[in-house]
Amino acid sequence: MSEHNKIPGKLLARLTRYGRVYLLDTVKSTNSYAFSLAGKHETAIVIAQNQTHGRGRFRRHWFTDSGSLTFSVLTFPETEEAVPLAQMTQVVGLAVCRAIEDILGLEPLIRWPNDIIVGGKKVAGILCEQHKDAVVLGIGMNVNQSEFPESLPDAGSLFLASGKTWEKLELADRILERISGFQEQMQAGETTELLTAIKDRSAILHRRVEIRTLFRRHIGTVVDIDAEGRIVLRTTSGRLAIINSGQARRLR
Ligand code: BTN
Repeated sequence: MSEHNKIPGKLLARLTRYGRVYLLDTVKSTNSYAFSLAGKHETAIVIAQNQTHGRGRFRRHWFTDSGSLTFSVLTFPETEEAVPLAQMTQVVGLAVCRAIEDILGLEPLIRWPNDIIVGGKKVAGILCEQHKDAVVLGIGMNVNQSEFPESLPDAGSLFLASGKTWEKLELADRILERISGFQEQMQAGETTELLTAIKDRSAILHRRVEIRTLFRRHIGTVVDIDAEGRIVLRTTSGRLAIINSGQARRLR
């Protein structure tokens, strides 16, 4: 029997508040599946038990097993302008942090741009993508794993951090609740509060870091995260660099 058949009806009903829910066993990637639904032009939540080609940023593979929560939210932002994906990534990161705080009482950090860190280990990653008017918010969370392959020394799970197993869809529901609340705040122009909350949880603000982008490597101190989710870095040469996307690593 599929694990999804055991989901309490009440929880399913709660999930449907955010859009049509697709509960799937195995897909290549929930982000790809979500994009395949874009022609219907309706908000959808795609949750899979397993992904064979889960993807992370920079086309990296995203590890998925039975302890993972992997889901994607298909949205159609009503805006004439390009959706700032860097900003969306920060807001979804904040939603993931808040859900972990609400349910587990732990204090996660956001390692810009898209890693959620608990106890120094990465417990979740976010991949926001856009094709035409469809924006997909992809979230991969390590929930109930007791171990990881040796090739993933940075990976941790909520089980390893708390000693308890967690209902994955409860977490998904809380993340969706938070995302939808933050979207309302953004539409109402209340972005200052969100940005402050994002900065409060930053693992790299005011720290010395190395940031690798596709073409460059920057070293310096993070002096700010701007409203569009970009890093403001004071480089070792004293110059200010605004970085939209990359991979950050804290230096001592
Ligand atoms: C990263 O850390 O690089 C981002 C990882 C994002 C993984 C999630 S799992 C659900 C969704 N589907 C995917 O193929 N990727 C995202």
